[in-house]
Amino acid sequence: MSSTDTLPLIDCHPSTGSFRDDVVAGLSRERKQIPSKYLYDARGSKLFDQITGLEEYYPTRTEASIMHAEIDAIASAVGDDALMVEYGSGSSDKTTILLDRLADDLVGYVPVDISRDHLMEAAAGIDAAYPSLEVRPVCADYTSSFPLPDLVEEAMRTVVYFPGSTIGNFEQDDAVAFLRRMARTAGPGGGLLIGVDLRKDPSILHAAYNDREGVTAEFNLNLLRRMNRELDADFVLDAFRHEAVWQPDAGCIEMHLVSQEPQDVVVGDQTFSFEEGESIHTEYSFKFTPEQFANMAAEAGFRIEDVWTDEQDLFSIQYATVAAW
Ligand code: AVI
Repeated sequence: MSSTDTLPLIDCHPSTGSFRDDVVAGLSRERKQIPSKYLYDARGSKLFDQITGLEEYYPTRTEASIMHAEIDAIASAVGDDALMVEYGSGSSDKTTILLDRLADDLVGYVPVDISRDHLMEAAAGIDAAYPSLEVRPVCADYTSSFPLPDLVEEAMRTVVYFPGSTIGNFEQDDAVAFLRRMARTAGPGGGLLIGVDLRKDPSILHAAYNDREGVTAEFNLNLLRRMNRELDADFVLDAFRHEAVWQPDAGCIEMHLVSQEPQDVVVGDQTFSFEEGESIHTEYSFKFTPEQFANMAAEAGFRIEDVWTDEQDLFSIQYATVAAW
């Protein structure tokens, strides 16, 4: 535990060692791949915030509109005296819709994020905006286990909040394992409030992940910058291009960094060769039918209680309770 000027912080930030190990392992694979969580350094998190405001990127505004329209039903599903634990809180923008309605009814709010500066900035903003609310940030990789603050003992139930359809950034088996971990965090009687992006016309998806301003491209290429800075790598950014393609059989958008030419790249003391057109796979973004998601959630020990969608069925917010694990 370390403390800042304003808020107590539980700090479980992973070391640079795990980033290096994951990059070296990922670039050594036949199909080069780096886990998408590494897209979110301070700059990556800011670029992602920018993406959420783009006209083509429908998920954020659609999720917010569902939250506004259904906030009473959502509040009654969450109930009184819950501890709200937000995974990957980022700038906590959508959280304000929840907190405007729920702050006085919650025992506390625990934002969890891997980007410490981003987390502390957002947590301080929430702490100032909701003086009656206990705010206890946790800096951690939320895909691993992390401790919850003592407040959990005062709560009637723990509700994990996981908006944005970040669940779609996991491969199927990993998504189920991760949902199972969330069920353990929520515990018996606990809940999960989750944003789930839905299957739709691929042209809408293509536009959302290949925006005209090139912010998504910059977000993707920023991973190369990050490796150069943190891992002593020598990626030339102009020698790679962003690509995001819809894979209809798998039901996901795949994001890649494609090498424009044959080249060798050094990361620390290792060299990796790229052929022209060879790529590093940097992200999956799965889109679900409601049935698919319900089956995954059931496998992880959750029972879906409510599903709220927009008029065009672009996006859903779902409330699940822990059935077993
Ligand atoms: C965080 N996550 C849900 C985003 C998505 O849509 O899969 C990340 C993203 N990647 C490119 N644009 C946005």
